[in-house]
Amino acid sequence: MTILDQFRLDGRRACITGGSRGLGLAVSRGLAEAGADLVLIGRDPETLATAQQELSTTGRRIDLLSVDVGDPGSSEAAACRVLDEFGSIDILVNNVGGRRIPTPTEDLDLSDWQRIIDLNLTSCFLWSKILGGAMLSQGWGRIINVASISGLIATKGIGGRGYESAKAAMIQLTRALAADWADRGVTVNAIAPGGFLTDPNVRWFTERPELRTSMESMVPMGRLGQPHELAGLALYLASDASSYMTGATLVIDGGYTLW
Ligand SMILES: NC(=O)c1ccc[n+]([C@@H]2O[C@H](COP(=O)([O-])OP(=O)(O)OC[C@H]3O[C@@H](n4cnc5c(N)ncnc54)[C@H](OP(=O)(O)O)[C@@H]3O)[C@@H](O)[C@H]2O)c1
Repeated sequence: MTILDQFRLDGRRACITGGSRGLGLAVSRGLAEAGADLVLIGRDPETLATAQQELSTTGRRIDLLSVDVGDPGSSEAAACRVLDEFGSIDILVNNVGGRRIPTPTEDLDLSDWQRIIDLNLTSCFLWSKILGGAMLSQGWGRIINVASISGLIATKGIGGRGYESAKAAMIQLTRALAADWADRGVTVNAIAPGGFLTDPNVRWFTERPELRTSMESMVPMGRLGQPHELAGLALYLASDASSYMTGATLVIDGGYTLW
């Protein structure tokens, strides 16, 4: 097997939460181009259908499931449905997350805190438990948790510490699960992105261009990331190429956390 063959995903099925837009769509495209069939999870059926149409050009089978992953009850039921309706999953990308609420902690409502924890952390627990749990009996599996550099540092000038706390816990869940499942063929790794130009950020920077200039000045590479720049790392973690890596959190931030 050549080194490039190790990155092939032929015969594998991947489930990507939040696979219809942004980083999740870029990762989905990369995995499908490498040969994987996909199950995409999102809320809006039209956005999912658009992604399906676009990704079908890879020749892979693309299935869809619409659900609010931030609601623990619906999320749990949907993860079970994925196994029932589409069969076993080899690669799980826990990508849904975000929604930073920039309220100072002293003013933050418990309900807002809980919403961010459920969206970012509880969803990761539930989908890992159900889809990852099923991987154990297969003896092979890959879980990739999309965390954030905000799980490693306290982002300067932006409040909303529920997001930081959830992403930090996601990184520790990655390490603990990786240790538990290391001898059963299932690896669990996390990606910690810095700033990427996905829709919410593009909108935000269009309204406040000075924020983009300020943020770019904090990145040694002098720019934000493009979603496709995350796909190669996700493919590495999803494939046999990463067979000896588990419990790692890989930072991809143009150097932001170096300063
Ligand atoms: N972009 C960045 O700069 C950046 C930096 C660090 C970390 N991250 C992390 O990367 C991940 C993806 O971020 P992104 O910027 O790519 O987000 P995005 O562009 O807003 O895309 C989010 C995706 O998730 C789906 N989604 C959102 N909420 C959902 C919910 N409650 N239930 C089901 N699906 C939902 C969206 O589809 P619907 O809207 O149709 O549901 C869409 O497919 C997040 O975990 C985020 O914290 C992003």
